[in-house]
Amino acid sequence: MLKVKYFGHSAFLLDNGKEKIIIDPFIPDKNLATEEDLKVNYIVLTHGHSDHFGNALELAKNNDATIISVYELANYCGSQDVKAHGMCVGGSHDFSFGKVKLTIAHHSSSHEGQYMGSAVGAIITIDSKNVYHCGDTGLFYDMKLIGELTPIDLMLVPIGDNYTMGVDDAAKAVEFCNPKAVIPMHYNTFPLINADSDLFADKVKKIGKKAIIVKPGETIEI
Ligand code: NI
Ligand code: MN
Repeated sequence: MLKVKYFGHSAFLLDNGKEKIIIDPFIPDKNLATEEDLKVNYIVLTHGHSDHFGNALELAKNNDATIISVYELANYCGSQDVKAHGMCVGGSHDFSFGKVKLTIAHHSSSHEGQYMGSAVGAIITIDSKNVYHCGDTGLFYDMKLIGELTPIDLMLVPIGDNYTMGVDDAAKAVEFCNPKAVIPMHYNTFPLINADSDLFADKVKKIGKKAIIVKPGETIEI
């Protein structure tokens, strides 16, 4: 079983009992992450914006963990004396826990005003489960292709609107990608991205798919 813990915003921890991978470690309520949670082996970053980058450098340093991200962002992290592995869209690579493949995401990416390459999504394969973290993105039709090439067990999709898809487009994204289950993310962190996750769940149910509303701090198993 793969444990998936949600920390709020776009931050998730994948734990197979042997290794821990944290994705976009911006954790709005620090109390929701235990000391054990933060003993991670890898950090996957979808882009450089502070609401995703979080304290990635500190996490990497504390654990001698490797940051996995797009090339430019990985180079920046490497220049800050942490281990980093750079990739680009469409590329996949095997790590000790499984595989990461980067996908497109329609968004921007910078860190402290510096250009950080493309924003991406990531398909993380661990314990024979494919988890697709969309990153920050608008809707795109190739989500259909992504789901066709890699059957997705769990899709993590932004619904907060303004910077990413809103509820309607996110439901369409689920229809395109056709995952076994979906968790909404990137909403209700601050007023500008408030969204109704129940409405999203309803829309997803109407197309015969399953949305799991996970509260920050909760863990599910897939
Ligand atoms: Ni962003
Ligand atoms: Mn964001």
